[in-house]
Amino acid sequence: MGQLTTSSDRHSSTRDTTGTPVPGFEITSPTRHQGADMWRVARDSGTLDLNTSYAYLLMARDFAETSRVALQDGEVVGFVLGYRRPLDPGCLFIWQIAVDSSMRGRKVAAQMLDALVSDLSGVRTLETTITEDNAASQRLFASFAERHGAAHRIEPLIEEADFPDPGHGAELLHLIGELNSGS
Ligand SMILES: CC(C)(COP(=O)(O)OP(=O)(O)OC[C@H]1O[C@@H](n2cnc3c(N)ncnc32)[C@H](O)[C@@H]1OP(=O)(O)O)[C@@H](O)C(=O)NCCC(=O)NCCS
Repeated sequence: MGQLTTSSDRHSSTRDTTGTPVPGFEITSPTRHQGADMWRVARDSGTLDLNTSYAYLLMARDFAETSRVALQDGEVVGFVLGYRRPLDPGCLFIWQIAVDSSMRGRKVAAQMLDALVSDLSGVRTLETTITEDNAASQRLFASFAERHGAAHRIEPLIEEADFPDPGHGAELLHLIGELNSGS
């Protein structure tokens, strides 16, 4: 199947690259219960730090406005979990983003980010952290910056030695902004 694209209004009218509608695909805010699905997608991602299922259930409740799930035929196939930084609400921090392996490479992640930023008012900058070995995520955010006409800076944030438990690579901070208004 081709790449998916969504309409700019409700993110539910999906077309592939040939312009053919792809039925059953939509991007919405998560319900509280979909926190469980977000946990499953994170668990199966093979890359993300898996937080407790309790954490995803709470996040889906408290950060629904700044998070999105991608649904195919009602099943959660991707999620983005974000929050506004408390000391800088114009900055949207993307904590985690993941797409089920069966749906990767079809712009699902790119569309979730675009839908989120287009639905939120007053977001000027976007931040995330990425490890040096995650080429897919690096490209996802570089491409987001290009689409939104924004500068993209990368700097150290959390060093490997900062983690109290083993197995974490250094997390580099990606700062993207100012986002074009109307993006
Ligand atoms: C990172 C991830 C969310 C991308 O999801 P996706 O839906 O496949 O990404 P998209 O199809 O929207 O692609 C977005 C861009 O990334 C590029 N990309 C996607 N997968 C890639 C890969 N494996 N290698 C290099 N580039 C890749 C695409 O080509 C596209 O670039 P373009 O806009 O220049 O064409 C997905 O690979 C994933 O879930 N990985 C595991 C979890 C993870 O690592 N999350 C990020 C943690 S920081």
